[in-house]
Amino acid sequence: MKKLFGYIIPFFFLGCDFTPSTTTENLAPIAEEKLYRPYLHFTPASNWMNDPNGMFYFNGKYHLYFQHYPDKNVWGPMHWGHAKSEDMIHWEEQPIALYPDEKGYIFSGSAVVDHNNTSGFGKEGKTPIIAMFTHHNMDKEKAQQVDVETQSIAYSLDEGKTWTKYAQNPVIENPGIRDFRDPKVFWHESSAKWVMVLAAHDQVMIYNSPNMREWTYLSAFGKGIGNHDAVWECPDLFELNVKGRSQSKYVLLVSNSRKSPNSGSATQYFVGDFDGKEFILDPSFKEELIQKKDFWMDFGKDNYAGVTWQNTQTHAGDKYLIGWMSNWEYATKVPTVGWRSAMTLPRTLSLHPHDSSYRLVSQPVKTLKEYREELKTMESQPIDQEMLLYQGEVAGIEMEFTLDRPHAGKIFFVLSSDLGEHLDFGYDADKEVYFIDRTQSGRVDFSPTFANQRSIAPRFSASEKIKGRVIVDKTSVEVFWDDGMTTLTETFFPTRPMHKLKIKSTNEKGMLHDFALYDLKSNKGENK
Ligand code: FRU
Repeated sequence: MKKLFGYIIPFFFLGCDFTPSTTTENLAPIAEEKLYRPYLHFTPASNWMNDPNGMFYFNGKYHLYFQHYPDKNVWGPMHWGHAKSEDMIHWEEQPIALYPDEKGYIFSGSAVVDHNNTSGFGKEGKTPIIAMFTHHNMDKEKAQQVDVETQSIAYSLDEGKTWTKYAQNPVIENPGIRDFRDPKVFWHESSAKWVMVLAAHDQVMIYNSPNMREWTYLSAFGKGIGNHDAVWECPDLFELNVKGRSQSKYVLLVSNSRKSPNSGSATQYFVGDFDGKEFILDPSFKEELIQKKDFWMDFGKDNYAGVTWQNTQTHAGDKYLIGWMSNWEYATKVPTVGWRSAMTLPRTLSLHPHDSSYRLVSQPVKTLKEYREELKTMESQPIDQEMLLYQGEVAGIEMEFTLDRPHAGKIFFVLSSDLGEHLDFGYDADKEVYFIDRTQSGRVDFSPTFANQRSIAPRFSASEKIKGRVIVDKTSVEVFWDDGMTTLTETFFPTRPMHKLKIKSTNEKGMLHDFALYDLKSNKGENK
């Protein structure tokens, strides 16, 4: 039934008087809902969402909070929405967790599980969950004051369902910095303190606290280091084991709202050490930064403000991240009506030695595999110009494959609809880059920079085999190349569902190996 409606209704609305529609008004809400609401990615049931916030794991549940304006589908007075999941894929939205108040909107932040009740908020043996967030005061913003942003806390004694804001908020006053936000807290074992990083205009400031109430400024990192084409936002600092070595490093994530390599919002990373007080760049990483200037976690245009889950120590050292699958360049204009924007798929992060330095690698979380239903597998196949891989619904699919690395021309996949709209992604051997090209993917003219050019990403692997894993979910494509060493995440808005998958090889004959295609339609219902 779901499937029937998913197709017939959009065809009906668009089919009677079809002129390629580019405004949301042309597409009735039911059509938009079925065409664009992802099967697996988290979306709010209604209205606006941006950054993921306050993620923690507790008692078998992953919690996700998010920047939310529940009254309109554009950015506005920020609340924290809330969703829960057992596997980070299937989400159930919960009542709103935090509302704006007289101190301001509730901007981005994080949450921790205070096992030892260091905060003293715990009562009757209940473990307190403490959220730390930015209060953003709009009156001060309008009056063009500098001290617009302060840091506050709230606690929950019912596993993140309801929250009490601390009576003595803010816990950190504004030190005279206009952009001073997005606190991310973690427990630092060897100093036995809470450590917090926050974005302070063009650097990350580091604080610590014994109890989440009193905070001490420790150090700052970042002035003149990495990409500074835009203000820094949403930092995260965490430890990762280095693959294949008995060594660990700290990774610092920082999001830049504008002017990333493919334009707009993206997240950069730094690799170094942290002694409880200062983040110091690893010398080999520093050397690479001097030459390359910046390192990006994902090169696509739609993975922003990503941060990691807290309290997953029991998960074999794995760190899970989720990002906001949009971009400040056009987030408020994308052609969905009932809700705006989805999160990326959650990803496991790992740190790999690379040349003399390190690379941050992302892979979809393991639980995604449980949603697969096999559609097709194929062993080695030569690709003479082009080959049809699948005809039928390709709106919610995953594929894995290996390609022989071409030395000239391009090898790429094409998802297309009846109308000839298509989304292309693959490898450009002439430029030695991966790419996503959404210029012909459907509704693109709601923003001049949504699809003015293809997005590209460097290839870091030198292997003669190119491995790929791709997830398509109605309006998004997430591509993990070379086991996640290069990733690209982008959204697209076709006017009809994509229903054909091809591979094309220009120039020389291509080779496709170990191809597997899976249907990923959620058997648990859509995610909202
Ligand atoms: C990042 C951001 C944060 C801020 C929030 C406001 O996308 O600008 O810096 O806290 O969004 O919604």
